[in-house]
This record gives sequence, C-alpha cells and structure tokens, in this order.
Amino acid sequence: MAKTYEFVDHNYDVVVVGAGGAGLRATLGMAEQGLRTACITKVFPTRSHTVAAQGGIAASLKNMTPDSWEWHMYDTVKGSDWLGDTDAMEYLAREAPKAVYELEHYGVPFSRTEDGRIYQRPFGGHMQNFGEGPPVQRTCAAADRTGHAILHTLYGQSLRNNAEFYIEYFALDLIMSDDGVCQGVIAWNLDDGTIHRFTAKSVVLATGGYGRAYFSATSAHTCTGDGGGMVARAGLPLQDMEFVQFHPTGIYGSGCLITEGARGEGGYLVNSEGERFMERYAPSAKDLASRDVVSRCMTMEIREGRGVGKDKDHIFLHLDHLDPALLHERLPGISESAKIFAGVDLTKEPIPVLPTVHYNMGGIPTNYWGEVVSPTKDDPNRIVPGLMAVGEAGCASVHGANRLGSNSLIDLVVFGRAAAIRAGEVVDPKTAVPTANAASCEKIMDRFDNMRNANGSTPTADLRDKMQRTMQEDAAVFRTQESLEQGCKRMSAIWGEMKDLKVTDRSMIWNSDLVETLELENLMANAITTVYGAEARKESRGAHAREDYKDGPLGGRNDDEWRKHTLAWVNDAGDVKLDYRAVVTEPLTKFEDGGIDMKKIAPKARVY
Ligand code: FUM
Repeated sequence: MAKTYEFVDHNYDVVVVGAGGAGLRATLGMAEQGLRTACITKVFPTRSHTVAAQGGIAASLKNMTPDSWEWHMYDTVKGSDWLGDTDAMEYLAREAPKAVYELEHYGVPFSRTEDGRIYQRPFGGHMQNFGEGPPVQRTCAAADRTGHAILHTLYGQSLRNNAEFYIEYFALDLIMSDDGVCQGVIAWNLDDGTIHRFTAKSVVLATGGYGRAYFSATSAHTCTGDGGGMVARAGLPLQDMEFVQFHPTGIYGSGCLITEGARGEGGYLVNSEGERFMERYAPSAKDLASRDVVSRCMTMEIREGRGVGKDKDHIFLHLDHLDPALLHERLPGISESAKIFAGVDLTKEPIPVLPTVHYNMGGIPTNYWGEVVSPTKDDPNRIVPGLMAVGEAGCASVHGANRLGSNSLIDLVVFGRAAAIRAGEVVDPKTAVPTANAASCEKIMDRFDNMRNANGSTPTADLRDKMQRTMQEDAAVFRTQESLEQGCKRMSAIWGEMKDLKVTDRSMIWNSDLVETLELENLMANAITTVYGAEARKESRGAHAREDYKDGPLGGRNDDEWRKHTLAWVNDAGDVKLDYRAVVTEPLTKFEDGGIDMKKIAPKARVY
C-alpha cells in the first residue's frame, strides 16, 4: 500500500449508502424495527436528487377516477415494453397504495381534493381499463414539489427513530470477503479528511442514477452512479444498462425539468406550424403517451424541419391557456423554473423544451426484496450475501425498457420499504458484525491513494466532458449500429485515458477535485456498460430505439430473441463482458388466488 490510512471503525446491523427517497425509506424501515442503522450520504439528505422530483407518486387510490392495482400493473408492464419482471411489477402495483398511505401518516403534506383526500393527477401512460382509456388520475402530488415533501418527511422520521447519519461522507468501495460476502463499506469524511470503515451485516446501495454520464440531463450533478461503480469494481454485473430514459420536457438549454404534471394538468406540445403533433402519433393518449414515445415524436418533428426557434431545434410546451390560479396552486415550482431558466412567464408564453436524459432503467440487478443478484450458470437467481440495492441504483426490474412517469417515486418507497422488511427477516441483531477482510480494505485504499496522487496530464473535467459528449451523440434517443459501434470505440478509448488523469489537489479536506475524479470513475463504469449493451441489443424496445430495427408487427421489438435482461461486467482494463438473463414471467399470485389475469398482460404491440 502506497500510504497507510488509519481507519475510524464503526459497526452496524445495516448501513445504507445514499439518502434519497429509497435510501431514507430503507433507513427508516430498518430503524423502526430496532436494527442499528447508519445512513452514509455525500450530500445533506434533503439535498439528495429526489428533492427535484416534481409531478408525483403513482398509486391506485381511486380518489379522483376509477382505478385498480391490476390497471396500474398493466400500464407498468406495457410501459416496460414487456421487459419488466412480472413478480416485481405485481409487488409494486399492489403495495403502492399502502406505501403512499404510510407516507401520508408519516406526515407528507400532499395536495388535497375538495373533500380532503390526496389529490391525484393524470400522467403519461397511466390509463383506465387495461390501457383502453380514458387517462386515469393516479399520480398523488404535493403541488409540483412531491419529492421535496417526501424527503423532508422521511429524514425527520428517520431521526425520530434513532437512525444515525454520516453526512458528507463519500463511499469509496464495498468491503468484500474472499468468498463474495459484502461486509461493509469504506467512506471518506469530506469535512475533516478522516477515513471510516463501516462493517455491517447488510449494506444497502441507494446511490441513485448516472444521468451525469450524459451532457444534458435533468439529473443533479451528484447523479454519478456511485453504487454501480462500486458493484462493477466488486466484480458483479449491472443489468439492462442500455435503457436510458429521455424526459420530453427538459428546458431547452439548461436541461432543467418541467414536470410531466404540466401535461397532466392540460399542457400540450406544438411544433413550428402550431400543430399539436402528438394527436397524429398517439391518437388516444396524445401528449400523455409514454415518455419514450413522446420524446421520439418530438425528435422526429425537429428532424423533419418542424422544430421551433431560430435553429428549429426544439419544441414549445403551452400552459398559457390554463387558469393562472390553477398554475399557481398546482405548478408553482415550474412557474419559477420557467422564469429562471427560460426567461418565460408561462401564464403568457410557451416554454421551449427538448427531450433530456432523465432516468436509468438499468442498474444493479436485484429481486423484488432488493437483494442483489449475481447469476451463475447453476443458479440464475444467486443472491450476493450482505448486499442490497434500491431505487434508481437498483434494477428490480419494474421499469424494464421504459419507466412511466411517477413510477419512480413509488419504486423508491415500495422497494426501500421492501428492503427493510427483508432485512428484518434476515439480519439478526444478536449476531456479531463480520470482521472486515484486510486485503479488500487495502485494495480500496490503494485505489484511493493512486487516484489522489494521479499525476498525468488530463484534467478530470476534460475527460468527463469527452465522455458526456460521446454518450450524448452515440447513445441518444435514436440509435444505429454505426453510432453505437462508434460509441463503443470512443468509450473504450476514453477508459484508456483515465490512466492519464491529473488531480491537482492532494489534500484530504473538501477536495472537490478528487471527489469529481472518483465520481468520474463511477460514471465510466456505468457509461461503458450502457453503450456496449446497446450495441449488442439488435432490436428496438422501450427507450432503446434503433433506426435499423423498426419494422415488423412490434415495431422493431423482437420478443423471440431479445425478451431478456442484459448483464454487463466491466473489469479494471475496461473490457466489457455481456451475458443475458431470463425475464420473470410468473406473477406472485395465481389468477385463481386473486392475481391478475395473465391474458391481459400478454405481450403485444405497444400503441398509445
Ligand atoms: O415529470 C415529472 O414530474 C417526473 C416524474 C418522474 O420522473 O417520475
């Protein structure tokens, strides 16, 4: 080891890494059961990216329109383009109402109907009657600051239940035993430079997505796929990374999110001819079609010369026909964002918008309890002992090839809660915490020290910019064999350039240069598996839209060969290995025992 670092040692029953919606819901659920729980987070909990979630959280409460868990499940299956796992999707749709009522009882200040129930708005791809329509009002909202409201509530409740927080600690890597058990995590306290070794019976990764692998994203700058990076370095696979969601309405230029709730409240998109073009592409759902569909339609309008603005390179979102009082009550946050980031008064003018990277459907493979899965030839469902993943970092997989709006917040709380329930069953507070594998700890600190002393000639910001532009150009809304092959080549070359990184600040306290370099390494593991997975998948499905695979009855989707999950490993040299894993097609509950009618969710063409 180049330099000896002293550890400050801690041991817990459970350590949660990340304090967004999923991390906090898991932390709260663990602490409520009396498990000794620590939550490590690189930002203050209420600054986690969930704070930016606007439009709401999906659950079939039936407060405003008829609804059922079966309709919610159907929409999720169809939204996933039949790549989601049936057991996990059933679990999500069934547990959603319970999880939302729990939030209400914890104190989330939801908006209310006249008669005092939780207000629900329409969102893209959520329909009544097994997709037949009309749109269902299923998305429970706290104005357009739903994530903000949830985070504050969950943080307060976690403190109330004696969870311990390690705030502004950057998790470096997982401590793994020689036989593949996760024993804890090592983290760097950014504030005083000390290194902390957390051993635990269970580690839960709730580190969020990796939107910042792209040049333009609605994601916070902190969304750097840290959990995916740690898992890849532990020699474990990532799943379905090729599926990257573009949100239709990022503000042109800044990428800042304008919630789909804007269209849920009656907003609509127009092209340079003033045409509401979504009526042409999705006659039934129109502007409330699924996100991947709307993003592609917008891109086609722009490509065909019907974009707006001087360069005809974006689209207008109109809200100026709506009552200003409604905008003030239901969409106060985006009224402010439109003013600040687009200079627009949305009561009078349209907002310029463009599809912008928003969400990663792929991530760390798990079962619906959040237990991390690393398949072997003999056991396709092999669980990695001591390791869980939830939220956008994980891939359960409920979103398959495309996530529906407002299914993210419900994923966070349903699976954060599920992980806590599971930990209550498998973590015994009376047993001893494992002793950390010394060789694993040494390897982690060697990597850290090498990075800290990196003395090449490439500044981190330059290499990050190169990666982001490559991903933006080569793994975009529409993809071709040529663009993806070029993307693989460019990403492999960029991986090679990491050897030449230069870190100028060698200090241990608030060293943002080193933090960004560690984050870049995490982003790279996510980005390279994304582009290699995409190149290999010879079909169009959900957010993976290949122009060279768009014909046939399913519009380029090939269920015979490609209804399967991608698994991707990347080693230190940047070599990516791919394999595949079957989609779970069995429900949790048989029809005769009260489950869904499987004929209703049988694969078919996806039209809105
Ligand atoms: O449009 C939105 O409010 C985003 C919601 C989501 O991604 O679920």
